[in-house]
Amino acid sequence: MKPLFTKPLLAYHAILLLLVAVTGIALSQLTTEYIILVSILIVEYFILLVIMLHVYDRYMKPVKKASQTVDELVKGNYRTRIHHSAGGSIGELNNKLNVLARNLSEFKIQEQVQEEQLTTVIDNTQSGLVLIDEKGYIHLVNRKFLAMFGGESNDYHGYIYYDVLANETIHETVQQTFLYEKNIIHSFKQFIGVNKKYIEIIGAPIFNERGMLKGAVLLLYDITHLKRLELMRKDFVANVSHELKTPITSIKGFAETLLNGAKNDQESLDRFLTIINDESTRLQGLIEDLLTLSKLEKDEFKLIRTVVDMNLLIGEILPVIDQRANQREITVTADVQDGITLHADGERIKQVIINLLTNAISYTPENGEVNLTVNNEGEMIHIQVSDNGIGIPEKAIPRIFERFYRVDKARSRNTGGTGLGLAIVKHIVEVHDGKISVESEPDQGSTFHVYLPKNDPASS
Ligand SMILES: Nc1ncnc2c1ncn2[C@@H]1O[C@H](COP(=O)(O)OP(=O)(O)O)[C@@H](O)[C@H]1O
Ligand SMILES: [Mg+2]
Repeated sequence: MKPLFTKPLLAYHAILLLLVAVTGIALSQLTTEYIILVSILIVEYFILLVIMLHVYDRYMKPVKKASQTVDELVKGNYRTRIHHSAGGSIGELNNKLNVLARNLSEFKIQEQVQEEQLTTVIDNTQSGLVLIDEKGYIHLVNRKFLAMFGGESNDYHGYIYYDVLANETIHETVQQTFLYEKNIIHSFKQFIGVNKKYIEIIGAPIFNERGMLKGAVLLLYDITHLKRLELMRKDFVANVSHELKTPITSIKGFAETLLNGAKNDQESLDRFLTIINDESTRLQGLIEDLLTLSKLEKDEFKLIRTVVDMNLLIGEILPVIDQRANQREITVTADVQDGITLHADGERIKQVIINLLTNAISYTPENGEVNLTVNNEGEMIHIQVSDNGIGIPEKAIPRIFERFYRVDKARSRNTGGTGLGLAIVKHIVEVHDGKISVESEPDQGSTFHVYLPKNDPASS
């Protein structure tokens, strides 16, 4: 509670006393009856006092309250309200002030919510973001930017961009954005920790409502994965061209030699035609493997799943393999658990097993042994292909599933390999949601393990 007698009230009270005194002097001329005179003055004093308090409470106090409320609003305290009940136009003014205060406080809440939303979006975007004003001062950097370039917000905020950002490409982007007043795109390499990353930067100018340049937004994206894909694609094209070139050069060379007269010599004719035939077979194998890979990689590629009986499937594979194994005097044994079925693309699974068995035979010296087993392992089936061949050096193991990777190029070519077999195998296993792994010891042999989910339609 505020004291009742505030300064203006004291002043009014003094005027009141003055009026009573003037009345007293005037009346003292008319009467000498002091009792009457004092009584009149006391009554007058109280009447005037009541009138004064009434006027003060009704008109002066609400105006004061309103003024205090406006002061609070000016200070930004939008929760302030006037609780004084007043009638008439002062009451109306109070009500309007309360409505104003309520609206301002709602605006403030909305503004806070919007600001929070904006901050959340800015901080959680997967691109780095920098806001620069027309003089080059940084006003904002987001969390992703700090993750890319290190430091804290305070290390950038309020500084000129070229003082705190050392990267030349960023400087160039800002300068060109300001100069040409249009979006500018560049890219550069940046070490983030120990990793080399490729970053794309876009500078976008910001204009005010009169179309004048107000600053620029810089957006920074990590495009490392795109660069890697681009590199892989370039490597792949280079590899394919190289792989195709070798047999074609050889076919063309021998055909030319034959045409230049060698065809007249029966022995040369046979020898060269055999080479041409072998090289064409290799070319055919390479193109078939490339087509298989490209088919597997297509988005619309679908497995043709049926119920595959592993015993039957292996029964179809072995005669194909045996012919090759016999040529090299390698013993192939198969041990398939009875009654294993899985819901899968039979032709593709066949391709996996043929590829693994062909490799096992190709990379095992004569008189070696190759063994195939198929077993149930819970919800999965476990296919194991092992040999006692040349094995794979430890550091090559992670790479053998890459396209065109071979431990020994010449040996792989001599056995008719394209370098794509295991890449195809891995792809097929993965589209079946399976897993492939390998254990190997140089000169001891290798074992490939394939785990495939049974996807039993009866149990799902
Ligand atoms: N059973 C194995 N024993 C030893 N090395 C193997 C075996 N299987 C695959 N490799 C190695 O992995 C490489 C890639 O295999 P693959 O993709 O089938 O291509 P390739 O056409 O050369 O056989 C082979 O060149 C070989 O060096
Ligand atoms: Mg192979």
